[in-house]
Amino acid sequence: MNVKDVIINLLGLKLIYLKIKMIFKYRGSKDTWGLVAILFHWILAILLFIQFASGIRLSTLNFSSIKLELIDMHQSIGSLIFILVFIRFLWRVNNTKPSNNNLPYFHATLSHFTHLTVYFLLFSIPILGIFYNWLSDLEIILFGIITISNILSIENDELADILIEIHFYFALLLMLIVFIHICAAFYHLIIIRDKYKIFHRMGFNSIKEKF
Ligand code: HEM
Ligand code: HEM
Repeated sequence: MNVKDVIINLLGLKLIYLKIKMIFKYRGSKDTWGLVAILFHWILAILLFIQFASGIRLSTLNFSSIKLELIDMHQSIGSLIFILVFIRFLWRVNNTKPSNNNLPYFHATLSHFTHLTVYFLLFSIPILGIFYNWLSDLEIILFGIITISNILSIENDELADILIEIHFYFALLLMLIVFIHICAAFYHLIIIRDKYKIFHRMGFNSIKEKF
């Protein structure tokens, strides 16, 4: 019995776990990303759209109590995105990826490069935001409950301003890449009628086990 089995037994979740495993492909296979990756993809997509909206709104607001409240929300959701991306990335590295064998080489390379850039930006944007706070000697309060204390003992407003500017330009770049990513997804779905099953394998219909 390995550690995973012990934990599942201890929590009394083994039956539920087996049932989910029987009904859904929770891991990836050659024709699906699997339940876990699909859940991460769509939950993060929703959170990211909220984040883009709050970021753009922030860049147009002058200092006020409304702006401070929006910053709190922006930082809370942004930190949640950071944690989820971290777990998603670990899962992606260990998960079986769908096969790209029938996809033209150019498509496969471009999508691989796009996904890598998306991960790079999803890690670096929150880190820049967090360091901006610390260099400005501010605490980060998540959802009004958890406080992330400042671990830096230096305050440097000039550097903080540079970091938040990079944060902004990286966020714009991410929006552009996500836009291209969505166009590519709909090109597959509508123009070439999903002949390579690219859209299908990121959808919940692809995870039902066939008996
Ligand atoms: C993927 C996640 C994130 C995205 C896409 C994002 C995007 C943005 C955008 C577009 C802006 C407007 C830029 C500006 O006003 O100069 C902004 C501002 C800001 N972000 Fe983020 N952000 C993310 C995560 C975070 C995190 C995790 C934190 C900190 C914990 C953070 C802290 C801030 C702060 C302090 C501002 C400046 C507010 C101001 O004074 O105008 N962001 N963000
Ligand atoms: C309406 C919005 C979206 C649609 C229709 C969509 C569609 C898709 C599809 C069909 C795939 C599978 C590609 C393949 O199998 O090669 C995929 C993968 C992926 N998408 Fe999206 N996507 C959307 C939004 C987003 C957003 C906002 C992000 C950024 C967080 C994102 C990041 C990714 C990544 C990183 C992958 C690679 C698989 C993985 O690592 O989980 N997508 N998307």
